[in-house]
Parts: sequence; structure tokens; C-alpha cells
Amino acid sequence: MAVIAEKCPQIEVTIVDVNPQRIAAWNDENLDNLPIYEPGLKEVVAEARGRNLFFSTDVEGAIRSGDIIFISVNTPTKTYGVGKGMAADLKYIELCARQIAAVATTNKIIVEKSTLPVRTAQAIKTILENGESSGINKPQFQILSNPEFLAEGTAIQDLHHPDRVLIGGDQSPEGLKAIETLTDIYAHWVPRERILQTNIWSSELSKLTANAFLAQRISSINSISALCEKTGADVDEIAKAIGTDSRIGPKFLKASVGFGGSCFQKDILNLVYLCRHFNLPEVADYWEQVIKLNDYQKQRFSKQIIDSLFNTVSGKKITFLGWAFKKDTNDTRESAAIYVAWQLLQDKAEIHVYDPKVSKEQMLKDLDYLAEQNLEFSLIKDQLFSNLIVHNDPYAAMHSAHAIALLTEWDEFKTYDWQAIYNNMLKPAFLFDGRNILDIVKLSKVGFEIKSIGKS
Ligand SMILES: NC(=O)c1ccc[n+]([C@@H]2O[C@H](COP(=O)([O-])OP(=O)(O)OC[C@H]3O[C@@H](n4cnc5c(N)ncnc54)[C@H](O)[C@@H]3O)[C@@H](O)[C@H]2O)c1
Repeated sequence: MAVIAEKCPQIEVTIVDVNPQRIAAWNDENLDNLPIYEPGLKEVVAEARGRNLFFSTDVEGAIRSGDIIFISVNTPTKTYGVGKGMAADLKYIELCARQIAAVATTNKIIVEKSTLPVRTAQAIKTILENGESSGINKPQFQILSNPEFLAEGTAIQDLHHPDRVLIGGDQSPEGLKAIETLTDIYAHWVPRERILQTNIWSSELSKLTANAFLAQRISSINSISALCEKTGADVDEIAKAIGTDSRIGPKFLKASVGFGGSCFQKDILNLVYLCRHFNLPEVADYWEQVIKLNDYQKQRFSKQIIDSLFNTVSGKKITFLGWAFKKDTNDTRESAAIYVAWQLLQDKAEIHVYDPKVSKEQMLKDLDYLAEQNLEFSLIKDQLFSNLIVHNDPYAAMHSAHAIALLTEWDEFKTYDWQAIYNNMLKPAFLFDGRNILDIVKLSKVGFEIKSIGKS
């Protein structure tokens, strides 16, 4: 929405959220306090905020005055009841639709920006058409699907130069008119041939499909990384060899400890649930395997650390470089680091963490969420969490460590003085590169026992 405000100064964009702390942070004078870290974001906010970009907690006021309402609320995996652990929890979407139905007095275009299961638009439509404001002056609603394809870490670049913008809507004259209205907004900076118009169900399902294909590529290369470690093949050399085939392409072929982030897992689980719902068990099993392989990769990494450290990490200092799920973001949702840390904490390791953008408070919140899913460990979690020590200085974090595990591919890790780090560690000094970004030949010469995903 900040980029729409930046590119369309004549359009007033108001962002409302029920979380007052988040809104206060978006309005903070100091742009370093914005709630999301994203390269280029603060410059966009600096340009548009107060001009035509506003942040507010007045949800009803914004509904009343808006011509177009983007629903961008969270759609996490359900943690209760039918579809628990699989289906998308649509309660926040439903609440938005009910609030719009109750408050709106004029015609509006409602845009699904959140990632949603296919056919959600039907549910939103039903709620809107049965709202309290029904009657003679009942407002008319057009529902569009406009899924977001940005990737965290490169969000501003992706929004400025999208591969495509997808807009789905009703194929009625009113629906087509609404599609054109939204197309005109994006056309301020996106070439029209990159704005794809589809029916609403194709648009909804395209987003889940895109994420499933992207995650599948990662699980595919990760599955091969396990075979590489057994056979002496090098996963980077394989990625290069297959990526030069124009039918395959070079992107998304980096082997790692596993994908994280708020979207891939939840969207694939959602797709799997939909397939089961429509009685397509073979299709559901096919996509579920992408998640299983990702879980396997995280477990494999933790096990490799324990095995290498002579089968016990109890009382040993293990340093994590990185906690965010990828570089250039402070987002930690579903980060592989959380699962690896949890595994090692249960084995009584002392985990020291350095991440340039993630706070200790966030790390504890992430672990707490995981611990709460396991009754046995939730009882001793405070004791386990006291073994998580967070540092602001990476060199202090690695001093006297038995092992280093690299969990996020932050660029700064490649620039460290690895000889000095090695000299200050306990020997043998182990280095586990979960992102496969370090030069293992060079670091072996420094003296490290180094293990990198997909290399033997
Ligand atoms: N994060 C991404 O990279 C990304 C990319 C593409 C799509 N998406 C999709 O976008 C959606 C949002 O993701 P996110 O990462 O921004 O989630 P988020 O949890 O960071 O943000 C959602 C916000 O919605 C607010 N909210 C909830 N209910 C509300 C209501 N009734 N009225 C007003 N505000 C309300 C919450 O307070 C929260 O601040 C999800 O469906 C996600 O799948 C996210």
C-alpha cells in the first residue's frame, strides 16, 4: 500500500490495523522504528507518509470513506477444530467482511490481498450481501482477488518491478469494470501487458500454486543435497548444471537447512487441505511431501550437529549466526533456526545467537510458540530458555564456542575474520553452514571441521 501511495500521489491511501502498537510504529518519527525491516521501505514511507499515505486505528472511518478496500489481514494455519494444522484460519477475513457489511453505506470494491483458499470470494460475497446495511439503499460490492507475489527481503524491488500483477474478478459487466479500476491504479507504474486479468477462482488458486511450485523447487534441491552428502557430489555444481537448462532455469536452486517464512508452509498446507476437501487424496499427498521433506531437512541438520559433536551437545556452547528466515528481513516466522534451536535446547545445549535484525524478545516468542505445542517440554521450557543467550556482537557470540551453525544467509557473515574466530574457539572447532554460502575449502584450511549442506 505504501508503494501504491508512492506511485499514485493523487490517490489517498489509509492503512488501518486493530493493533495500535503497530500503527504507532508506522507513524514513528524515527523511520528506523518501522515495524518491518525491508530494504528501501523507509524511503518509500518517508516520501508518501503525511502526503497521501496515512496510518490509523480508525477502522470504521476508513471503511466508510474508502472506495476500494484491500483486505490484507493474516490468514494463519488453523490451530484448533476442523482442519487444525492444515486449513487456513479465515476468522480475520470473516471479521473484516462482517465489519464492512455493517459499516459501509456506499458502493465499494473489496480486494482480497491476503492469500486465501480458492472460493473464499464466495464467502465474502455472501456475508457482504447479507449485511446490516441491506435495504433500499443497499451498497453494491464487487470482490476482486489481487494476490501479493512480493518476496520478503526484496519487497520494494518486487513491487516496483513486478513480473506480473494478477487481478481476478467476476466476469459480469460490473466485475469487469472493477477489474479495470484496479488495473488503472497499477498501470501508473506497471506496464499493462504485465497486468493479468482472470476469473476470480483462477486468481485465488494461482497464488497457492505459485508458492507450492517455489517451495517444491527448494525441497527438490534439498532432497538431492542429502544424496550429495553421501556420494561426494556437490549440490552447487548440480544446481549450476541443471539451472543452465532453460526449461529448468537457475533461480531457487540453493540447497539449505530448509525454507521458512510465513507463507510457504501455510499455503501448501492450505492447498493440501483443499485437495482433501475436494476428495483428491493423491494430489494432496503429492504436495504434502514438499513440507515433509522440509521438516526432514531441519531435523537432518540438527542431527548432524549432535552426531558431529560426539553424540552430545549437553553443556556445549553452540553459536547460531542468524535467526531470521532469510537475509534482509527481521521476519522470523517458521524460520529453520527456531526448529534447530529447539532441538538442540532439548539436548541441553547452550545456544548463543547473533542476528543483525532480530531481538531476543522475538526469539523467545518463537520458541515459546513451539514449546506450547509439546506438553512435556512446555513444563520445562523456562529452564531450557535460560540456555538461549543473545549477543549484539558476533565475535563475542562465537568466542569459546564448540560449534557455529549458520542459519541465515546474511551477507555480513561472509566478511568475518574467520581465522580470528577459529583461534578463539574450542578445538576441534566445528562450523555447520546451513545456508551453504561459505567457502568450505578456504575455511577447512583455516582449521575448521566444516559441514555444508549438500557437500561431503
Ligand atoms: N508476508 C509476506 O511476505 C506475504 C506475501 C504475500 C502474501 N501475504 C499474505 O498477506 C496476508 C497478511 O500477511 P502478513 O505477513 O502481512 O501478516 P501479519 O500478521 O504480519 O499482518 C496482518 C495484520 O492484520 C491485522 N488485522 C487482523 N485483523 C484485522 C482486522 N479485522 N482489522 C484490521 N486489521 C486487522 C493484524 O493486527 C496484523 O497487523 C496473509 O494472507 C499472507 O499470506 C504475505
